[in-house]
Amino acid sequence: MPGPGAYLVGSEEKKELMDVIESGHFFRYGAENDPRFQQKVLQFEKEFASYSGAKYCVAVSSGTGALMSALTALNIGPGDEVIVPGYTFIASLSSIILSGAIPVLAEINESLTIDPDDIVKKITKRTRAIMPVHMLGNPSEMDKIMEIARQYNLVVIEDCCQAAGASYKGKKLGTIGHMGAFSLNNFKTITSGDGGMVVTNDELLYERAFAFHDQGHKPNRTGVEIGNRSIIGMNMRMNELTGAVALAQTRKLDQILETLRNKKNKLKSELKSTMGVTFRRINDPFECATLLTLLFDNKETAEKFGQKVGAKTLAHSGWHVYNNMEQLLNLKFDLDDGEIMEYRKHMLPQTDSILERAINISIGVVDNGLGAGYGINIRSTDEEIAVVGANIKEIMKEILS
Ligand SMILES: Cc1ncc(COP(=O)(O)O)c(C=O)c1O
Repeated sequence: MPGPGAYLVGSEEKKELMDVIESGHFFRYGAENDPRFQQKVLQFEKEFASYSGAKYCVAVSSGTGALMSALTALNIGPGDEVIVPGYTFIASLSSIILSGAIPVLAEINESLTIDPDDIVKKITKRTRAIMPVHMLGNPSEMDKIMEIARQYNLVVIEDCCQAAGASYKGKKLGTIGHMGAFSLNNFKTITSGDGGMVVTNDELLYERAFAFHDQGHKPNRTGVEIGNRSIIGMNMRMNELTGAVALAQTRKLDQILETLRNKKNKLKSELKSTMGVTFRRINDPFECATLLTLLFDNKETAEKFGQKVGAKTLAHSGWHVYNNMEQLLNLKFDLDDGEIMEYRKHMLPQTDSILERAINISIGVVDNGLGAGYGINIRSTDEEIAVVGANIKEIMKEILS
């Protein structure tokens, strides 16, 4: 049960992939004067950068790798704190920790993205960065976040892993902060099985992110550049087979988003004036529309509803909630002033109270791991949407009677 891009894999992906297989060049680098070498990764980087309105893009092997490349490019490491919401995938936190820095958890608000008021409360003398997560395809409140960043001299890394193609106030996500990180795993808006990308408008940050993902090398090397490697890096390169599929999917992104927005609007209008339920706040209509989050008046109603459709409330939906991240809850960090940073269950009461009243209905991402096993998908017809809408209404009538 994947994301919308996976539902639409077809002849376009096959053609790009066959180009690579027939060329025999699977590595992203090769002899540029060999006419058989297709350079799909390079082409993908160019097209995704242009699609995003960003100057630069580095294709990498995962969204986690994209976050690590961005954090390293920005020189975030030991002694630094990064403010990040408690409702996100573990990779947002693990990338901070494995960069040597400390994640500081902040509350979400009813948009299910980071609460700007809580960011301000979490700032200390160690804070270096904010990592807003555009959760479930909904843009974070970027104008407030960028204002806080300016005021406190912080950098902003947008975790866009669940939000490829969405925009906030006319700007594509990933290009508002200093750097943006995307994922191409199977559950994302577009997919190549696994993969990711980093975007930025800053040439130095691009060079550093590129270097981190490829053993310190300069962008688009033709050799091994002995003597020219500025930082210690890793291998998070994308290969040509992955690049080929990512390229075909990027070309479908606008069509995917338009289809999802239409289907979500249809389902929302079926649910108009249903008692006892509202929708989470959407911060920009050009969100991804991959999910419809229902917010119930109370936890009991949400749980009853969940039982009827075979879904869990977001509080219990699995590994996107800090309370359910046992590998985080075991950690402690010594801070420089003798204090300790610990991660305790229920340390974010506002987040807990929103998530226990929330249920995700799938629109384009059908994923039990997000609590979205029930709903529609990108191929659902109007009739199927009407059936789901009628079912939700009927269940609410039953629960409230
Ligand atoms: C919000 C968020 N951040 C980061 C990631 C990590 O992406 P990947 O699985 O490609 O490493 C994901 C993927 O599930 C995610 O949802």
